[in-house]
Amino acid sequence: MHNGTTITQFIIEEQRHIQGASGDFTSLLNDVVTACKVISNVVNKGALIGVMGSAESENIQGETQKKLDVITNEIFIRSNEWAGHLAAMASEEMEEIYPIPARYPRGKYLLVFDPLDGSSNVDVNISVGTIFSILRCPGESPEPSTQDFLQPGVEQVCAGYAIYGSSTMLVLTTGHGVNGFTLDRDIGEFILTHPNMTIPADTREFAINASNQRFWEAPVQRYVEECLAGKTGPRGRDFNMRWVASMVAEVHRILTRGGVFMYPKDTKDPARAGKLRLLYEANPMSFIVEQAGGVSSTGLERILDIRPEGLHQRVPVILGSKNEVERVVAYHKA
Ligand code: AHG
Ligand code: MN
Ligand code: MN
Repeated sequence: MHNGTTITQFIIEEQRHIQGASGDFTSLLNDVVTACKVISNVVNKGALIGVMGSAESENIQGETQKKLDVITNEIFIRSNEWAGHLAAMASEEMEEIYPIPARYPRGKYLLVFDPLDGSSNVDVNISVGTIFSILRCPGESPEPSTQDFLQPGVEQVCAGYAIYGSSTMLVLTTGHGVNGFTLDRDIGEFILTHPNMTIPADTREFAINASNQRFWEAPVQRYVEECLAGKTGPRGRDFNMRWVASMVAEVHRILTRGGVFMYPKDTKDPARAGKLRLLYEANPMSFIVEQAGGVSSTGLERILDIRPEGLHQRVPVILGSKNEVERVVAYHKA
């Protein structure tokens, strides 16, 4: 029998330390958690409920949507629009922001999310996840705008992800460290199983999609080359490599045992700065990584300091174990 701390209990106890907290944020987070439980259930049932495969539509990024991209986006909206905590939402799967409909009260927060990260993995039963970020809605304007979302990552109130893997977990930061919760399906609750997650400063494991190698810039070429040279190269030790193609799984591994993850700037498509999206992939993951003692950079600047220019803006991402990420950054400056 499990008698651990539930995520609700954890959030309420955290809220007690914040003077003047109204319970609004706690309540919002509860709805986000519920949405993740619903998504976990749908992803887990998979082919039994006919949710696999393509939706035969495209999102704003020009990517073919999976049925589950569309379904999970809908789940997130329906779970979070009604309670009166949000002014608007934005998602990977919607071109424009989603202002809370007039039939519901509007609140002071903004929610940004990637409802299903790594969705190319869903049909082959490899881990996928949900990434979310909570911001304060700035200004007094009654009508939320895209501009309200364009805040640097340092302004995030909370960031988290759910990973639908061999077990379902939810990992969360509100700026006081990182905590991980595992879903106990028997009681339908996330239980605190990974308190104070930290990323070791050193690692011998890196993650990058090596099929893009010919498009990488010199600093990343140099770093990976040196890792591959192993014991007999300049690093004097062997490295291991992983690539899941689900950022959530990648970040989760790094939070568990260290590592460095790179989706760097490349010359494959000169029109885009990187693959991953700043507001709902890079920023929430960077907040979590930094809170766990890691580093997150584009190679040239701290991701959390970037002033966003668009809802679906892409950025290069290099994150994880401090000493390795700092090395890659140093190669960019050399
Ligand atoms: P999404 O499924 O939300 O579009 O994101 C996929 C992202 C990220 O999770 C992963 O790290 C990366 O794309 C994988 O890209 P490649 O297919 O280029 O390896
Ligand atoms: Mn994604
Ligand atoms: Mn996605």
